[in-house]
Amino acid sequence: MAELEVRDLTPLFGAEIIGFEPKLPLDDATLQKLRTLFNEKGMLVFRNLETDKDFQTYLSYALIEKEPPAVDPTVNPKRESVVSNKVENAIAPVGRLLFHSDMMWSKDILELLSLYGLEVEQPATPTMFVSATHAWKTLPADLRARVEGRFAEHVHDLSYERSGGDADVLTAKFQDDDSVKLPIAYRHPRTGETLLYICQQMTSGIADLPKAESDELLEALFDHLYNSQPVFEHHWRKGDLVVWDNLALQHARPNVVAVGPARTLRKTFAPMPESFKTRTPQFAQAGA
Ligand SMILES: [Fe+2]
Repeated sequence: MAELEVRDLTPLFGAEIIGFEPKLPLDDATLQKLRTLFNEKGMLVFRNLETDKDFQTYLSYALIEKEPPAVDPTVNPKRESVVSNKVENAIAPVGRLLFHSDMMWSKDILELLSLYGLEVEQPATPTMFVSATHAWKTLPADLRARVEGRFAEHVHDLSYERSGGDADVLTAKFQDDDSVKLPIAYRHPRTGETLLYICQQMTSGIADLPKAESDELLEALFDHLYNSQPVFEHHWRKGDLVVWDNLALQHARPNVVAVGPARTLRKTFAPMPESFKTRTPQFAQAGA
């Protein structure tokens, strides 16, 4: 492949790759360069790409050096693996999404997400990103001292309460009440970087603290995570492929409406969480 051109998307994370040709498999040199960039930048963006689901899945697994499953588990008869306001049974069809890392509530570690613009009419609602890695690095000393050694509990979805009762906000619930407690200073399993690992959408509280103190501390941590760094917005076009580290970066979006411009993005998960094989999330808006 011709020499790839790399352009930083923000001073903190993200790289746009120019001159990339999707080929299955990629040559070793290209793959190694992309892996290094992915680990350093947390997000790769390719524009004007013609690519199918096989290549998108291959690249998602190759970047984190894992083997894709022999049988594609995204083939779920109940749900298409697309985020869309037009396709029936799509993921997150409408609504606003608060910042989160997918599946933070699960014991399955979901390292990577990707979205590819299949059909994008303008003006398209962007996807927004912040860095949990940067948030940990810049966490003020007093807050760092309060969370060091502590665990947070993550549940399915607290969007409605957290958004102050915004009827547009979308909630996603699974059929059971899974939750998990993880260190707030969470060590990334692949890069070894420490993350500030809590999120607006799913973190219900800090373990072993009275509720009022837990709520106050979480508010201070959210304020730091979401208000002390620039938010990067990816503005979608057809043919965009965005691949990101689901742990190091959190994502969100403003409202999407069913009658708005078509916004259909093909999604991959790597590695595919075990729980996706048996469960299907239910999406709901309070105002719907
Ligand atoms: Fe998500």
